[in-house]
Amino acid sequence: MSPPEQKETTVLDNNVKEGEIDIKQLALEGYYFEFPEKKYPKLPVFEHKDVGHLADPKKASLFDNATKVFDLTPNIGTEIHGIQLNQLTDQQKNDLGLLIAERGVVFFRDQKINPYEGKELGSYYGPLHIHNVGGHPPGLEEVLPIYYETFIAASQQISTPRNSLTKEPLMVGWHSDVSYELQPPGFTFLKIDILPGESGGDTIWSSGYAAYDRLSPELQKRIEGLEAVHSGKEQAAGAAAFGHTVRREDVEHIHPLVRTHPVTKLKALYVQPGFTRRIVGLNKHESDSLLQLLYDHIAGGYDFHVRFKWTEDTVAVWDNRVTSHVAIFDYLDSSEQRRHGWRITTQAERPYFDPESKSQKQVREEKRKQASV
Ligand code: SIN
Repeated sequence: MSPPEQKETTVLDNNVKEGEIDIKQLALEGYYFEFPEKKYPKLPVFEHKDVGHLADPKKASLFDNATKVFDLTPNIGTEIHGIQLNQLTDQQKNDLGLLIAERGVVFFRDQKINPYEGKELGSYYGPLHIHNVGGHPPGLEEVLPIYYETFIAASQQISTPRNSLTKEPLMVGWHSDVSYELQPPGFTFLKIDILPGESGGDTIWSSGYAAYDRLSPELQKRIEGLEAVHSGKEQAAGAAAFGHTVRREDVEHIHPLVRTHPVTKLKALYVQPGFTRRIVGLNKHESDSLLQLLYDHIAGGYDFHVRFKWTEDTVAVWDNRVTSHVAIFDYLDSSEQRRHGWRITTQAERPYFDPESKSQKQVREEKRKQASV
């Protein structure tokens, strides 16, 4: 019997294989999003099994195979060199799951991973979120392109940065991705593959663990157990106003202001101006004032932020349950304005608050005490 015919796969630029599309090349050539008119069913409810539970606390499979690992700040952000995300073993994926949960955001430079491989990797951590209004590359509805150019705001008298072609307002401000879903994300993998120039287009992440820790014990007590409405309605209405189909019903869900991470068991502040709208049980004045205080606290907490300067083909992976982030549109003022990337987002558990959970500060103090005896 003759051996089965070996099919050769040709790998093209940007690690794209035959039959796949090269979205980086498409972005360089121009605009490529699809905004289908079809409708999607409601997102199914599922039981989230976090693979972080399967991790080795030492994360040896990752750290022992990396050429360099370093924390970017004490409270948030770790950078790893020498690992390719499209080649991770299952143990490395589990260890990465734990590391992201602990550090909030993890960065990998010079990554070859393409959106097809990104989908495969993301699926390991949970069902991939499909955006109800976002455009996507042809045939890749789980991939959300991040593609902003200047929409000449001044000449159009528009103060909000907009996408140059669709003219839609960009997501400006602190947010945790699609927190309005019943089971909001888990992890976001974002690869930035075209940069606006030497500088500009950084992203800042804020730690929800440390944001909680920095509140006074009195305010911590007051907000634990409170819940807030997170809404996708404005985002959907905004897209509809630009003629796009809202492909799945726009939703609002109620989530705790302080949530517990299922793997680290730590408390994190979980509100952000992007999608949190009001605190249940407070009147408008009280709710607006308290939310504004918390938003200012998140945005002003320089000691629990990491501001990241991207290099081409860097991937950031963050845990939306314990961080919020803001993209900086300073490059819209410069001569080279194109910034492009793509994002894969995984869904996780319905947010919950466990009164038995601890704060990061408490756990760190306990460890310090143990170490000193
Ligand atoms: C996002 O806001 O989800 C993307 C962040 C970025 O473009 O840096």
